[in-house]
Amino acid sequence: METNTGVKDSVDSWKTIMFLYNAALKEVGTKLEILNDEFQYVHQYNPIEHIKTRIKTAESIVQKLKRYGHESSIDNMIKYVNDIAGVRLICSFTSDIYVLAEMIGKQSDLKVISIKDYIKHPKESGYKSYHMLVTVPIYLSDSIVDTKVEIQIRTIAMDFWASLEHKIYYKFEGNAPDHISKELRECADMISNLDEKMLSLNNEIQNFAIQRPD
Ligand code: GTP
Ligand code: MG
Repeated sequence: METNTGVKDSVDSWKTIMFLYNAALKEVGTKLEILNDEFQYVHQYNPIEHIKTRIKTAESIVQKLKRYGHESSIDNMIKYVNDIAGVRLICSFTSDIYVLAEMIGKQSDLKVISIKDYIKHPKESGYKSYHMLVTVPIYLSDSIVDTKVEIQIRTIAMDFWASLEHKIYYKFEGNAPDHISKELRECADMISNLDEKMLSLNNEIQNFAIQRPD
């Protein structure tokens, strides 16, 4: 059993760590807002429809560590849980996702640790999204700490699909009836078609606007 001092130390280090993740979320959130504003200024267009940020709850950090077969400790959570600080960027068009990913990749103070392109390679469930794991340096009074942030970039339609799928997944604890999983995969295909059609319509409108300036 832990002594009182041990418990206090754990609580203190938990607070320090969560402080860092919160700071990282703020840094990345602001950075992305500035990129979006600059894009609007230069191209009169916003690639980001909206930005959602969240910090993972203690409960779901513990659950994830358990799922990965690791003991609950501060060290393990820093090492194995990549999405404690999470930013979700919602765009109108699939092309915006790649524009944003490139802009993020070029930010010299962000280090891209890994990329998962579930748009080019959707998950078995039908899930589509573009994930970037980055670190951002957090400047403390006596040190600099590179802190992980997971950035998920997806279209409005992909986000709509993912939130329903997430609800269903939890409702059935990962064992949804076959027909529901099948229908979800069909919806994922419909969503891909919709995204493609909206993009080509938008491109056509853009070309039309260039040909006929008023
Ligand atoms: P976890 O899936 O989070 O354990 O981590 P991972 O290393 O497998 O990363 P991955 O990039 O696959 O997933 C990270 C996050 O993406 C998850 O926490 C979810 O927010 C989201 N995600 C991944 N797969 C799915 C999916 O099939 N459906 C939904 N709705 N969200 C998903
Ligand atoms: Mg996963």
